[in-house]
Amino acid sequence: MAFTYKNDVLHCEDVAISTIAEQVGTPVYVYSRADIEAAFGEYQSALANRPHLICYAVKANSNLAVLNLLARLGAGFDIVSEGELARVIAAGGDPSKVVFSGVGKSCEGIRQALDAGIRCFNVESEAELNVLNEIAAECGKVAPVSLRVNPDVDANTHPYISTGLKENKFGVDIERAKDLYEQAAAMSFIEPVGVDCHIGSQLLSITPFIDAVDRLLALVDALESSGITLKHLDLGGGLGVQYGEEQAPAISAYIAALTDRLGDREFELIFEPGRSVVAMAGALVTRVNYLKPTEHRNFALVDAAMNDLIRPALYDAWMDILPATQRHDTAHRWDVVGPVCETGDFLGKDRELALQPDDLLVVTGAGAYGFVMASNYNTRPRPAEVVVDKGTLHVVRQREALESLWAGETCLPEPAS
Ligand code: LLP
Repeated sequence: MAFTYKNDVLHCEDVAISTIAEQVGTPVYVYSRADIEAAFGEYQSALANRPHLICYAVKANSNLAVLNLLARLGAGFDIVSEGELARVIAAGGDPSKVVFSGVGKSCEGIRQALDAGIRCFNVESEAELNVLNEIAAECGKVAPVSLRVNPDVDANTHPYISTGLKENKFGVDIERAKDLYEQAAAMSFIEPVGVDCHIGSQLLSITPFIDAVDRLLALVDALESSGITLKHLDLGGGLGVQYGEEQAPAISAYIAALTDRLGDREFELIFEPGRSVVAMAGALVTRVNYLKPTEHRNFALVDAAMNDLIRPALYDAWMDILPATQRHDTAHRWDVVGPVCETGDFLGKDRELALQPDDLLVVTGAGAYGFVMASNYNTRPRPAEVVVDKGTLHVVRQREALESLWAGETCLPEPAS
């Protein structure tokens, strides 16, 4: 765990949070190289005895430095857009280790992915399969395909991030999958190579994953008997992390439980983890601008807002908030809120903290779905991003300059007379 107190002073690895804030300003995202590498390493060791590919889900944190660190460890990547493909390539990732997920792939994205020679298209509908076949024909390529199957299991997670139920927009109904594989196998520019599913995110129990794998295996066996042999099984991402009191399964336990179900089948296993690789390796550092105790609630107005970190506002997500320096004075209950003009603009509510103006606060677990979901709402430049490597800090993304926020905008000329 990179974020730890040393004599009341919170550090990321060997660098004090206050040093980062002084050098780079706030708000700032801080990531630990060691923690990212450790989490990815846990996936690698758990899968060491099987053919596998760990395709990090780029959407969780797509900073080039993060992608590059993972590429150097041998990671593949799960992408959902041509933008993410370009990022992976810019970061030195290997396109032949890329899987392309996403429910509404653009034709341009499909073309670029075919050109780059990606490992597999995770196809989500019959319509997409037809379009892919046509584009592959135009490019003179055969597209490697896996159908994203919707196994209809309840992931028991927040409804916005649950994806494996029949009523969700994702994937092909498992009942329809066999027919669609047969159609795919008959297409000239499609080669079915795998099957995949992704049932949701922030799952805290292994059971839904097991239910999903069992349903996928039944499909694989049925396909085998009709002459379609698949080479890989892609089980998506979704493993949860411990933001607070909840218990999340260890990466090794999750992988062991799934590999157990496979028996002696020889598939290559693909995983698409995002959150479990980067969430706990990152934090958002913010400064207290004002303290505003009122009759009803106490507000700590900080310089980060919902535009910088939207998870609390969007999913009512609970993320821990720690003081950068522990004070031993009396603590009070504070709502930690940002300067954006919305009541939903909060980072945490009812947090027991001993605070003074100018204090630094640290929202932990912000390495995943943090910066990537940031916006410029209220014309707020997005934060800087820093990676700490032992005693050294590296700025891996500059804070946005104000002028850059309207750089592509133009005013209208005088009205034509
Ligand atoms: N594969 C596919 C096809 C996905 O849709 C996702 C995430 C992943 C892999 C990675 O899942 P993970 O291992 O990170 O759970 N913004 C939300 C999470 C949205 C997840 C979307 N899909 C949040 O902040 O909680």
